[in-house]
Amino acid sequence: MSVSRRKLLQWGGLGVVGAGLVTVPISTVSAKAASQLSSRDMPKPFQAAFRRPPTLAPDSVTTDSDGATVNNYTLAMRQASAQILPTRKTGILGYNGTFPGPTIELEQGTKAVVHMRNRLPKNHPQWTKHLLATSTHLHGSATLPQYDGYANDVTLPGFAKTYQYPNFQPARTIWYHDHGVHFTAQNVYSGLAGMYIIHDPVERELLPQGEFDVPLVVNDAMFAADGSLAYDDRDHSGLWGDVILVNGVPWPVMKVQPRVYRFRVLNASISRSYKFALSSGQPLHLVGTDGGLMPATQSVANYRHGMAERYEVLIDFSKYKPGTRVELKNLSATNNRDYDFTGKVMAFDVVAAPVGMKDDPKWNRIPTTLADSEPMHLTKDDAEEKRYFRVEKNGLVEPWTINGVTWEEVIASNFKLAHADPKLNSVELWTIENKSGGWFHPVHIHLVDFRVLSRNGKAPFAWERGPKDVVYIGEGEKVDVVMRFGPHQGRYMVHCHNLPHEDHSMMFQFRVGLGEDDDDPWDPINAAPAEFDDAPD
Ligand code: C2O
Ligand code: CU
Ligand code: CU
Repeated sequence: MSVSRRKLLQWGGLGVVGAGLVTVPISTVSAKAASQLSSRDMPKPFQAAFRRPPTLAPDSVTTDSDGATVNNYTLAMRQASAQILPTRKTGILGYNGTFPGPTIELEQGTKAVVHMRNRLPKNHPQWTKHLLATSTHLHGSATLPQYDGYANDVTLPGFAKTYQYPNFQPARTIWYHDHGVHFTAQNVYSGLAGMYIIHDPVERELLPQGEFDVPLVVNDAMFAADGSLAYDDRDHSGLWGDVILVNGVPWPVMKVQPRVYRFRVLNASISRSYKFALSSGQPLHLVGTDGGLMPATQSVANYRHGMAERYEVLIDFSKYKPGTRVELKNLSATNNRDYDFTGKVMAFDVVAAPVGMKDDPKWNRIPTTLADSEPMHLTKDDAEEKRYFRVEKNGLVEPWTINGVTWEEVIASNFKLAHADPKLNSVELWTIENKSGGWFHPVHIHLVDFRVLSRNGKAPFAWERGPKDVVYIGEGEKVDVVMRFGPHQGRYMVHCHNLPHEDHSMMFQFRVGLGEDDDDPWDPINAAPAEFDDAPD
């Protein structure tokens, strides 16, 4: 690395000068590479074949006391060796030892019980060598607090926790990932993330299914010379890798038929946001956001996709002759670090439709009207309470804060301190503001689906006109969201989904329908603790 670049990076990590806490913008930095791989080992775009993550089969299907179907699953977090690079193996931590973890896919109304085993080594094998105390969050599910992956509700190596997921919500693309306090970034980056799909009859009827319904887990990574994952979060500002992975494969190529496909795009990067576009200049037809289907399809030339957000996108390949290649590109959002190939994501090679293919005009189109949902009807007049939150950097290196507070203070209060106390089933309007020009913060509110009302006083972007649980608070942006707090009571987290920011310590909690000194039957740490796991490996 050149001296000037090293300087630049230091400045990027510093971020703040003087007593007025003026943030020095890191702006977008371009460089050749972040990995130390030799050119022989460095993967190149469009060399590897696309693959889907495996789907997890339930161990058993049972019926609960209210007659609901229950899928019983087991997942084990394990250290494993993955073939990510063509020439070298990479050590990962994965659910069932894979990255991404297996996809859980079920119908709305089918409950899930997931027996989550921590079979990881005691300490992380790399970097900080921290204790691998994990907590699993199903991001996008209205789960009871004790099963919601509260950061301090940890499961130690050799223990297991049984999580219960209700799946009563409308069809959506959600994901499970580690949320262990202070080390979420390293743990997720090491591979602890997987997709979770809830289907319902509305979406089954309207949108492509089966082989035409495709999960895309997108993230970035950097590698050491020996092929192991490298980690550098630049004093907790963020990690920007030079290799883009889709479902754990560097810049894959997918064969597609000349028809409409549905892609469930999850940004599983710990710090990188994207601006996706097609090389053909064709529109991306957005049909779903974090909390499920949008009211109407939004067709855009490109869109900004923050960490942890999910967008369901239709792409119509029907106009292309077999042999055509269309690339999914990343035009890059501000304040990321770009390298030689981070502008590319994956490629689609159009092939001839197989002879005798079942013609399914039903899904082979771009619908315009999609689905109604409760959050999209909320207005500012429904709000009983309004609250304001400021996301910022509050020191030279850290902490990252929300309204000047950090998760350390929540811990110090013995988890009593809450920065909002909505009444059960009440509607609130939250304004979230980022005064800085140097950072962006995708803010995630657990439990709820919200509607984005406005950004800087104007209408939200076309692509975010659907139910959401993460909102991109870009440079100098002030965003209003409105949501109903229910159906559960208890304590839930809110945080930035730039995971080094979250860990240091841009996270607070709110408490629904309970007073500070009330008994909490849903105590996130004590109501359903992990148990010693002596089952065979
Ligand atoms: Cu996706 Cu609180 O996390
Ligand atoms: Cu969440
Ligand atoms: Cu942040």
